[in-house]
Amino acid sequence: MRVHPLPLLFLIALGVISSTQASTLSSFTSSTVASSSSMAAVPAANQAGLLLKVQEAIKAGLPDKALADTVKSEVSHAMGADSEPDSLKEMHDGIVYKFLVNGEWRKSTSGRTISNLTPYDETICYEVQACTREEIDEAYATAHAAQRVWAKTPIWKRAELLHKAATVLRQYAALIATPVLREVGKNRKSAYDEVVRTAELLDFAAEEGVRINGEVMSSDAWVGQKRNKLAIVERVPVGVVLCIPPFNYPINLCGSKIGPALIAGNAVVVKTPTQGAVSTLHLGAAFKIAGAPPGLVNVVTGKGSEIGDYLVQHPGANLISFTGGATGIDVSKKAGMVPLQMELGGKDACIVLPDADLELASTAIVKGGFSYSGQRCTAVKIVFATAEIADALLEKVLAKLAKLTIGHPEENADITAVINKKSADYIESLVMDAESKGATLTTPYKRVGNLIHPLIIDHVKENMKLHWEEPFGPVLPFVRVGDAAEAVTLANKSSMGLQGCVFTQDINRAILVANELAAGTIQINGPPARGPDHFPFTGFKDSGIGAQGIKYSIESMSKVKSFVINLPEAAHPQGH
Ligand SMILES: *[C@@H]1O[C@H](CO)[C@@H](O)[C@H](O)[C@H]1NC(C)=O
Repeated sequence: MRVHPLPLLFLIALGVISSTQASTLSSFTSSTVASSSSMAAVPAANQAGLLLKVQEAIKAGLPDKALADTVKSEVSHAMGADSEPDSLKEMHDGIVYKFLVNGEWRKSTSGRTISNLTPYDETICYEVQACTREEIDEAYATAHAAQRVWAKTPIWKRAELLHKAATVLRQYAALIATPVLREVGKNRKSAYDEVVRTAELLDFAAEEGVRINGEVMSSDAWVGQKRNKLAIVERVPVGVVLCIPPFNYPINLCGSKIGPALIAGNAVVVKTPTQGAVSTLHLGAAFKIAGAPPGLVNVVTGKGSEIGDYLVQHPGANLISFTGGATGIDVSKKAGMVPLQMELGGKDACIVLPDADLELASTAIVKGGFSYSGQRCTAVKIVFATAEIADALLEKVLAKLAKLTIGHPEENADITAVINKKSADYIESLVMDAESKGATLTTPYKRVGNLIHPLIIDHVKENMKLHWEEPFGPVLPFVRVGDAAEAVTLANKSSMGLQGCVFTQDINRAILVANELAAGTIQINGPPARGPDHFPFTGFKDSGIGAQGIKYSIESMSKVKSFVINLPEAAHPQGH
């Protein structure tokens, strides 16, 4: 089949294929379109139809100009309109997404965008705005203006907005799952579940928020004092919360910040992760569609290296809620006099004692270690198996691991490509380091692009990086220890302390081991997990500052203010 240079140019312009793909084409067929970066902005339901139309147009042997026009019109038709409501359509022109400030979707005056690549084929799926400092100033300014009104809005009305946003998320869950799949490579089912879980979280935050009350204190509890002072203690908003969610849950870990912030009477400025930006923008859209007042929820995009410092050091930020990696330590140093709520990853240990139910433990290790390809702060990051059961446990784990499916997120594979090449290279370097120092790869190491096959590495020792570092991928170190005490000592040596888990049928031993472990949450006979999202979520050591979990987040995102009534004489209300 002959090459059609003109339609190729159109397809490049539309972002359906990249110029590199075009230049390497020996012939142009509809399958080129299908396998290309492609289709980023075309809803899944329309893709097959689009391919058919392109195929027909090529077969018809139209002149170049007519073919180009036909392809262009088919692509824009498929991009859209049929499934996407106007309220989401206004967020973007093709694959170019706008940012949200003062209730408006805008392109940046910088005139620059940042390309967002899919993890699985590293082609451009979206372009997001490179926001300027002036635009960030405006986001903070409109947030402060909106917050002053919002703080005077009855709590039941704030709750109503959260419930409406939850309804919007449910209504468009399938559409909103698509960017999660494309940008961060989460399989379709998990992407969809993330949207629904966020709707549930917003509902719960609304319900929890209406029951947050202060207290009344009296002076006569203090030695020598009379009961002539009453303190009315209330929780008041902090002002504007800067929310910085991570790539791995670009909707849920943003909702877990916005929901509590808003119900407590704050406004927000959200800085999206680069991969995950379009997903997070959709959460902003849900609040806009739900009727959030302009400026209450602002979502800015851009490279952390360009605007990160400006955002966190901005006088408009009254609290920073950050979830991510070690960058958070840098953020905490730069932030200055503002409260921080931070969660920075973990090296979550799974300790399996000799009397453990190995069926249960092995299931938890595979689920805990390999869900979303291990790219979770609460993934099992290291297994400490006591000598008596190590072989039997490993055998069960490997049998279960072999059943995981490996492939494309659209096929709902269990193991999908990790977020980007840098991450895949890093994971590979940890594997090579461990192997070179004598660890045993229980299956051969296999990587195709950013897709790393799940791997347990046995006999990992303290001199190997994998013992201490977070791979954030489907590679799990297996360490053999003499007893629980040795496991706890090794686990405690980690600089992080997010979660941990202990498997034993002896609840007394479980509590004793859990008491010793330096981590915010210890799961007994279950894998580490953040959810259900109303449970507290705290990191010890380098894993974080402050507490999350809906009630705890509402408390973190509000501050105490008291009114003291000074009475002329002691007053003791009578109860009879
Ligand atoms: C582990 O760390 C905790 C908290 O720092 C400490 O109380 C405990 O004694 C440590 N245990 C061991 C065995 O290192």
